[in-house]
Amino acid sequence: MSNRRAFLKFLAASPLLGALPSGVPGFAQALGQGGDFVISNPGEALNVFEFEAAARKVLPPAHWGYMASGVDNDESLQANLQGYSHYQVRARRLVDVSRIDMSTTLFGTTWETPILMSPVGSCNVLNPGGEVAVAKAAASKKTLQIVSTQASYPIEDITSARGGPVWFQLYTTNKWAATEHMLKRAQAAGCPVVAITVDTPAGRNTETQSRFRRLDTRDCASCHTGNNGGSPPKPMFSGIDMTGVGLTSPSLTWDFVKRVKDATTMKVVLKGIETREDAQLCVEHGVDGIIVSNHGGRAHSSGRATIDCLPEVVQAVGGRIPVIVDGGVRRGTDVYKALALGASAVGIGRPYLWGLASFGQPGVERVLDILRRELNLIMGQCGTPSLKDIGAASIVRV
Ligand SMILES: Cc1cc2nc3c(=O)[nH]c(=O)nc-3n(C[C@H](O)[C@H](O)[C@H](O)COP(=O)(O)O)c2cc1C
Repeated sequence: MSNRRAFLKFLAASPLLGALPSGVPGFAQALGQGGDFVISNPGEALNVFEFEAAARKVLPPAHWGYMASGVDNDESLQANLQGYSHYQVRARRLVDVSRIDMSTTLFGTTWETPILMSPVGSCNVLNPGGEVAVAKAAASKKTLQIVSTQASYPIEDITSARGGPVWFQLYTTNKWAATEHMLKRAQAAGCPVVAITVDTPAGRNTETQSRFRRLDTRDCASCHTGNNGGSPPKPMFSGIDMTGVGLTSPSLTWDFVKRVKDATTMKVVLKGIETREDAQLCVEHGVDGIIVSNHGGRAHSSGRATIDCLPEVVQAVGGRIPVIVDGGVRRGTDVYKALALGASAVGIGRPYLWGLASFGQPGVERVLDILRRELNLIMGQCGTPSLKDIGAASIVRV
């Protein structure tokens, strides 16, 4: 440890530091807090990274690995994080920023901030409160929550804890009857929007997750009782004959989108779009919105940051439908950069999971507060008091 401290001290004083890429996640944090400090309550956190260390401390290796994992060598996960350092912010001066308005409107609902919580499965392995604790935080912070097909609590319990609608994320499955059942259930629970995740048709190689699982000495079979040692069926599958049902379908095509649109009154959003070609097809097929996403680097090893995919999608869509982006958002400044590139809203995954794992609902609340405060700050610093003031001229690519 003392060697590490000495090394960090050396680096801090070294001209080498200037040569390192800015925005490398974790680096400034390690220097700033001496590396081994871990917060003991949400109020102590200065930034969202501090929840990561707190979560690492409380989670068993396999569950930590589940959350932290990307695919292959985690290239896409790293790319998402580092992608934000490809953009610099251009600040304007002498603008009245005494009132900052961060609000954005999606499908007729106005949100206080453009920051939403992306869907995450099996939240109960991070904290027993799971998605219900997240819903309570979403309610107290008036934040949009998207609930996964793989949620560990029934959608009805989550909407009731939220005290209002959430969006439903759909894994397509390979059996239409199962899909239809879930669509009906989500609609009946009051979800106004279904986000169909389309980025994992062919399976994936979550190596980091497997490595951490090997370190876990607990008896995983006592919880993972489902087929092939996997997880037990999730509440969203209750009442469905699961014989032969896979979570996703390798034969997924645009016909499926039409089928969903015909089967529901919910708005249909596609999650996992990365290219202008697919963005154009979304518009042609009547899709109501897009989430530019690579599943937080958990889908395939593209090595491409979602923030770098965003401009071509925004350009292809041409303002006809909202474009949301997620992946690697860790600072209010990241949110700002995404807005400048044309995002209508920005999703976070792991930051709220770190908050959930370490402190439950109050942890999630604090993560949302921190990001909100940081966005407010950068908007004021840059002379852009409302979202409409943030545009192409607000950033520059380096
Ligand atoms: C542990 C974990 C589980 C996830 N589960 C789902 C899921 O069930 N459905 C889905 O569409 N995306 C899922 N995602 C992807 C997130 O919705 C989101 O795209 C991603 O976390 C954003 O990247 P970030 O974690 O860097 O913020 C999951 C992500 C993580 C980290």
